Amino acid sequence: MSTTDYVLGQSERAARRLELQDRHFAAPSEALLDALDVCPDDRVVELGCGPGAFTRRILHRLGPDGAVVGVDSSPHLLEHATAALGTDRFRPTLADVAKPGAWLDGAGVVLGRAVLHHVPMAEFLVGRLRAVLPAGTRVGFLEPDFRRPLAQLARAEQQRPELAPLLTFARAINELYAARRISPAVGASLAPAMYESGYREVKHVWHPFATDESVLENIALIYDEVCDTLAALNIITAGEIVEQQKALRALPLGDLPAVWGLHQVTAVV
Ligand SMILES: C[S@@+](CC[C@H](N)C(=O)[O-])C[C@H]1O[C@@H](n2cnc3c(N)ncnc32)[C@H](O)[C@@H]1O
Repeated sequence: MSTTDYVLGQSERAARRLELQDRHFAAPSEALLDALDVCPDDRVVELGCGPGAFTRRILHRLGPDGAVVGVDSSPHLLEHATAALGTDRFRPTLADVAKPGAWLDGAGVVLGRAVLHHVPMAEFLVGRLRAVLPAGTRVGFLEPDFRRPLAQLARAEQQRPELAPLLTFARAINELYAARRISPAVGASLAPAMYESGYREVKHVWHPFATDESVLENIALIYDEVCDTLAALNIITAGEIVEQQKALRALPLGDLPAVWGLHQVTAVV
């Protein structure tokens, strides 16, 4: 499988879903930029920038001499980002992030949000970055974990059977990642992996987030995006997905446990 064989959607609808996702990633996203101490003059290389929602947050930290090199393998999502951001401080770059290239030149900061879990054997990329980036480069990632919260969720379901659609989604997304040979929990081992490959000042923060209305909407949209793939892989049928989407909409909002969370990992080369 190609490293650029992206498992989720690249359509206009997928771009809108990522905008929605940016809202529940808001606090961890700002925390990552704080931890990396992104400064006005920085040249920031963003791996897997997609339609540019996180890029917008980075640009807010930069002055007229700063720039974001947004690297993505989807021409469509890069076009979307370029139109949405409307600034020449955003430099769209079509490339496979798994193969570090000249687009890294001059970077003070290299970061990515929700991208490594789409890269097969993402640890190879992290190690290659360590080899090619100059000393002092700040590196950071926010990576989702679709496994860690599940024990807590399964425990809660014993008392609250109505939570079953959250477990069904968890199973479907994890089986999809397994079928595509990508890791739904790469963030969990990222900090030790970075430490052992020679990064300095490695820091890790776990951000679980409650399952609120926007998370439920995101889950329903993910089902739409990968419905055909899930059905083709015999993970869940299209009919069952429609039922699950209805059940998700019927869940009582207020104190739903987390289905996933984000690992924030920062380090210095
Ligand atoms: C879940 S989206 C996240 C987008 C953005 N970082 C955000 O947080 O809104 C993952 C992005 O990574 C890109 N991507 C996945 N694998 C890639 C690869 N090997 N090289 C470049 N981009 C990749 C996809 O095209 C997509 O835009």
